[in-house]
Amino acid sequence: MSNYHIKNLEEYFQVYRKSVREPENFWAEIAEEHFTWRKKWDNVLSWDFEKPEVKWFENAKLNITENCIDRHLLTRGDNTAIIWEPNDNSEKAQHITYNELHKKVNKFANVLKSKGIQKGDRVCIYLPMIPELAYAVLACARIGAIHSVVFAGFSSKALATRTLDADCKMMITSDGSYRGAKTLNLKNIVDEALEDCPDVSSVLVVKRTGEEINMKDGRDEWLAPLMEKASDDCAPEIVDAEDPLFILYTSGSTGKPKGMLHTTAGYMVYTAFTFKNIFNYTEGDVYWCTADIGWITGHSYIVYGPLANGATTVMFEGVPSYPDHGRFWQIVEKHKITQFYTAPTAIRALAKRNIEFVENHDLSSLKVLGSVGEPINEEAWHWFNDNIGKNHSPIVDTWWQTETGGIMISPMPYVTPTKPTYATLPMPGIQPSLMDDDGKEIKGNQVSGRLCVKFPWPSIARTVWGNHERYKDTYFSTFEGKYFTGDGAMRDEVGYYRITGRTDDVIIVSGHNLGTAPIEDAINEHPAVAESAVVGFPHDVKGNALYAFVILKESGESRKRDNLRKEIHQQISDKVGPIAKPDKIQFVEGLPKTRSGKIMRRILRKIASNDTSDLGDTSTLLNPEVVEAIIAEAL
Ligand code: PRX
Repeated sequence: MSNYHIKNLEEYFQVYRKSVREPENFWAEIAEEHFTWRKKWDNVLSWDFEKPEVKWFENAKLNITENCIDRHLLTRGDNTAIIWEPNDNSEKAQHITYNELHKKVNKFANVLKSKGIQKGDRVCIYLPMIPELAYAVLACARIGAIHSVVFAGFSSKALATRTLDADCKMMITSDGSYRGAKTLNLKNIVDEALEDCPDVSSVLVVKRTGEEINMKDGRDEWLAPLMEKASDDCAPEIVDAEDPLFILYTSGSTGKPKGMLHTTAGYMVYTAFTFKNIFNYTEGDVYWCTADIGWITGHSYIVYGPLANGATTVMFEGVPSYPDHGRFWQIVEKHKITQFYTAPTAIRALAKRNIEFVENHDLSSLKVLGSVGEPINEEAWHWFNDNIGKNHSPIVDTWWQTETGGIMISPMPYVTPTKPTYATLPMPGIQPSLMDDDGKEIKGNQVSGRLCVKFPWPSIARTVWGNHERYKDTYFSTFEGKYFTGDGAMRDEVGYYRITGRTDDVIIVSGHNLGTAPIEDAINEHPAVAESAVVGFPHDVKGNALYAFVILKESGESRKRDNLRKEIHQQISDKVGPIAKPDKIQFVEGLPKTRSGKIMRRILRKIASNDTSDLGDTSTLLNPEVVEAIIAEAL
């Protein structure tokens, strides 16, 4: 039996039991057999969730790009590593072989070196979904530099915060990006961000759209001529298993975004293992994950996991609605996609369209469908299953987080019987537990509680960049000795898990994690605003939408209020990004508060959801009278 590829349910249970009884042997066998090491580890695992500290494959030496690229060259150098599908389907797709990828990454790595980037330096990458984004990520890893990819839909302020926090030396961007019918000037956003980031001494610019841009003398350079000149031979920097691979920011319920730090060996082993099993990837398959590499899904399951398996992975630059709502299905047909991994929000948006958009395309190549990022509702699950999977491609509902690095709970296709809305069973090595509010573990089945993990897995984030205390506080202090996910979950009668959603002030809008605090901060910075509270409410496409309750310093007339709404939207777009714009903004005289002055979000959530039949006990509020007034004017 090979632990690496699980073929049936019985084998899953065997493998799972072994992974819990002998976690070190289990992961060591997989690591040993399936990867290239320059030196083996001295110790498989040391950990302490109190400190917290986790180390996997201690003192092993490797380079992740050697595992993702070089070791495939002999056997599959001419196989396609990346298929790049452009925004506009009249532009040609690119098929980048492993040999070509090797050359590009080596050249890019030499460019980075020529600009003084060394092992351990941070490089910010702010690029659209073009091949250079993958090359840039891998080039950093080639030389041991730490990449910090920022999703190219974030505003200049959000980019600046992340660049400063990670103390990046270099920025890699493009002149512009295409998204559907829109063209965005990315370089202008970078220029604005860099006004606050004096330590970024070098900016590399990919030419994509031909936008008019400014090039700052001595700082900015076009990438193409540098790539042309650079040698395509760059020996991989051999790093330690626990050396940092990347930082990726995620929203917290309070304060600035957290730079989750992932290290090299454990991340590689875990993403490769889960990719193989969860997508049942076999030679010749064409796997497509529709996420952006700016999110963890793209890091782990467009770049590292697939490439570590020598797979063919698709990168799509565009959006599902351009030139029409059949774009995804046209791509499936065109590239004969076998595994299709997307988000519930995209499924819901496409399910609303005429079914002809689906029926016009041949989807018979599909074997596995995947969902990620938020709970998938029953209706969307069935639509996906019936119309895209034609009832024969299993849906893997994959639950995980930026912090977990890889998929934690998910069915394995043709192994785990699926159940709509259930992420089903933990992956080998993952030991979930449900906790009650008193901090006790809830045993048995048919129960629900707060979802924790009680044993380390190889790809757990090791810290919050520059703030280990925050790492400890956020994940390890709610439940003693356990990693707390922030999610609620239930376990059914056979032990299947269903994720019910966040239990904190993080709201998932169209699959994007948004903390309420930064949005409220942006609103409060408007000179007319005294205070605000943002909550989520159910939305049939986005999953959740945002509802902002805003107290003005002086209550204005209604015409002024419409302008104010526009200004608040603008303020949020600038400070956080357009994805954080509330659907509804209600001006209120007061916000319900506890006697200690905390906003009672529970009540606001109910009002926003138009579910005010049972607001619970409001008599303990400092100002119970505001509740009726807010309800009376609710939008
Ligand atoms: O609430 C869970 C939800 O997304 C959160 C993690 O978001 P992020 O770090 O942005 O990573 C998203 C991609 C891995 C989780 O805490 N979530 C993610 N996948 C699922 C999910 N909720 C329910 N079902 C899922 N399959």
